[in-house]
Amino acid sequence: MTANTSNPGIPRRTQVVIVGGGPAGLLLGQLLHRSGIEAVLLERRSRAYVLGRIRAGVLESGSVSILREAGVGDRLDQEGIPHDGCFLSFANKGFRVDFAGLAGRSVTVYGQTEITADLYAARSRSGATTVHGVEDVTLGDIDTASPHVSFVTESREHRIDCDIVAGCDGFHGVSRKSIPLDSMTQFERVYPFGWLGVLSETPPVSDELVYANHERGFALCSMRNPQLSRYYIQVGLAERLEDWPDARFWDELRRRIPAAAAAELVTGDSIEKSIAPLRSFVAEPMSWGRLFLAGDAAHIVPPTGAKGLNLAIADVRYLHEAIVGFFTGDPTVLDTYSDTALSRVWNAVRFSWWMTNTLHRYPDQTEFDQRMQETELAYLSGSTSAQRVLAENYTGLPL
Ligand code: APR
Ligand code: PHB
Repeated sequence: MTANTSNPGIPRRTQVVIVGGGPAGLLLGQLLHRSGIEAVLLERRSRAYVLGRIRAGVLESGSVSILREAGVGDRLDQEGIPHDGCFLSFANKGFRVDFAGLAGRSVTVYGQTEITADLYAARSRSGATTVHGVEDVTLGDIDTASPHVSFVTESREHRIDCDIVAGCDGFHGVSRKSIPLDSMTQFERVYPFGWLGVLSETPPVSDELVYANHERGFALCSMRNPQLSRYYIQVGLAERLEDWPDARFWDELRRRIPAAAAAELVTGDSIEKSIAPLRSFVAEPMSWGRLFLAGDAAHIVPPTGAKGLNLAIADVRYLHEAIVGFFTGDPTVLDTYSDTALSRVWNAVRFSWWMTNTLHRYPDQTEFDQRMQETELAYLSGSTSAQRVLAENYTGLPL
């Protein structure tokens, strides 16, 4: 590392610059550190801000293995809750899909916020450079063998030269936008509804997640731990948070979930409430020159299949292998990164789209569409083969 005389903490040169300190950027930094590769991580926000974001919390078994291999599995193993199945419901009647029995794998419920906290703690221990509060991040010469990243922090301009730039800066970041539009194809579906989510310090209504199709709209019962529940209901895109006091939320949730669960539901004050739109998005390819995209920077899935975080983890696993190859004399793996990651991405995009279509009410849904949805769910409830397809995809296709 060559020291930067104007700010000794920020080097002028490193091997990899990681843009974005969400789960994708942090995990990549951790894996690279363990492989002896130097990476500087640039994050627009403060650490406290990143750790305050409430995101999903279902990990595929492959994601759990990767986090363990990265050396951040201890708390996950202690506090993560293994789930061997989940419930689906329609018309207030639920049925269980047995992940362990049908796919031989389970999932683990452990909040993304906790993973991010574990990764930041590991990064601090590693002594690797992390710069928070960066502004005006610009990627330069990424189509050459000598890329660089410029940014401003504490009113000073900096430039870091590197071999590789990892774009892990989420959907709204600068990395994807640095690829010329004529070198990239973008695929998008914006769904005509959102999810209103509530976090509450109440015991979860069920030991396993409940995904509910209902004529009033989709609902999901999830959790973070035995005292912390996470619930969602489908709402129209024009809905405003101020029109959803807690009592109205609980009433609506109760109407949409299986009758047995509604009878058991423990309600309380919400400690977080937000509305998120649903979108599917893929940018192809996931690399350009020496820039490699990972996670939400390259793709977005609706949360219905719980795939967003898992895809980010899988991308990072592939990208880490490719970068190690590059620095150990096999640069060809970098060329295949995009295709390898995208084949997994498209499977998860398809699965999340199918879950979303099967469980949500569309504004223009006809009686025919309605029957198709109900017939699909009825078939699923009675067919082990159909449930196996769901179990295999939900718990994660092999990496
Ligand atoms: N410079 C530096 N950092 C940036 C910039 C920028 N120009 N733009 C955005 N960032 C930061 C954001 O502040 C954020 O912390 O990049 C980070 C991106 O993190 P996420 O949005 O969490 O994306 P990712 O790490 O790919 O995580 C995958 O899985 O469950 C899903 O969407 C969920 O966040 C989740 C994702
Ligand atoms: C969550 O717990 O926040 C969660 C769980 C499953 C999903 C989406 C979100 O499919």
